Amino acid sequence: MMKIYVTRPIPEAGLELLRRSHPDFEMNTEDRMLTRAELLDNARGLDGLLSLLTDKIDGELVDVAGPQLKIVANHAVGFDNVDLAAATQRGILITNTPGVLTDATADHAWALLFSVARRIPESEKFLRAGKFKGWGPLMFLGGDITGRTLGIVGAGRIGHAVAMKSKGFNMRVLYADEVENSILDRELGAKKVSVDELLRQADFVSLHVPLLPSTRHLINKDSLRLMKKTSYLINTSRGPVVDEAALAEALRDGVIAGAALDVFENEPAVHPDLLKLDNLVLTPHTASATFDTRNKMATMAASNLIAGLAGQKPPNLVNAEVWGKHRK
Ligand code: DGY
Repeated sequence: MMKIYVTRPIPEAGLELLRRSHPDFEMNTEDRMLTRAELLDNARGLDGLLSLLTDKIDGELVDVAGPQLKIVANHAVGFDNVDLAAATQRGILITNTPGVLTDATADHAWALLFSVARRIPESEKFLRAGKFKGWGPLMFLGGDITGRTLGIVGAGRIGHAVAMKSKGFNMRVLYADEVENSILDRELGAKKVSVDELLRQADFVSLHVPLLPSTRHLINKDSLRLMKKTSYLINTSRGPVVDEAALAEALRDGVIAGAALDVFENEPAVHPDLLKLDNLVLTPHTASATFDTRNKMATMAASNLIAGLAGQKPPNLVNAEVWGKHRK
């Protein structure tokens, strides 16, 4: 019998699928992150692991699991929680959940953009506190959206979707990426520029890069100073892409007009200086949190796990070289 572990309850659609082929799988039934010690303890002897982006999957963990570990199916599109080199070296299949969360995440980036530009949380708080004493010409003035310039840093799946959704707002679109996105060029007349140029010109900068050594603190004190005083920063990618201390300073000093973050440098912690600011909108890493999307992510992660355990190539294999070398 194969030993399978799920590190936290995921939507029932995924569990049901897993149950059909592996009725004896085990799971942390509490809706909380496992501690490192618990994760290691539960990894012992596993054939397959269904992990979350909050689980650190590194050489130590896969060694504790043992040589029979075949697959780690990550319930996320991002897999910076996985030491890919360590897994690949040991011939362990790593999978993710691409595509199914693209629209939900892009929609959330837009929700954040609107919220910060039109000061929605701030004005709602004011109203609920009983401070609304009637319409005022100077009350809660914010930034315009229609006709402004949207800057997409990372024009892959999610960045692309965010850009496409700007159509209704008649925006000029700039993007920074290593590769040309011909659809954005054709459909929106978008222009590929350098990151610095994008920061200089955009009214809204939306981040959609994976977390890599080259993207860690891509937005820092210097890059924030390139942005316009009236511009806004939106981050739904990974927290460490932004230097939170530098952002807090920039928001406090009016270097940029505002920011909206769904992801944080040291989740679940948020830099204390950020929490003091009103020109900042925060959500707790919920960009993909819709019922349908999470069902699809769970089903996809379970399907990847089932395929890998059955000796089939999982549909969303991240380290394809493992398959090439060891599994053909
Ligand atoms: C991911 O999938 O990488 C998101 O951060 C959570 O949905």
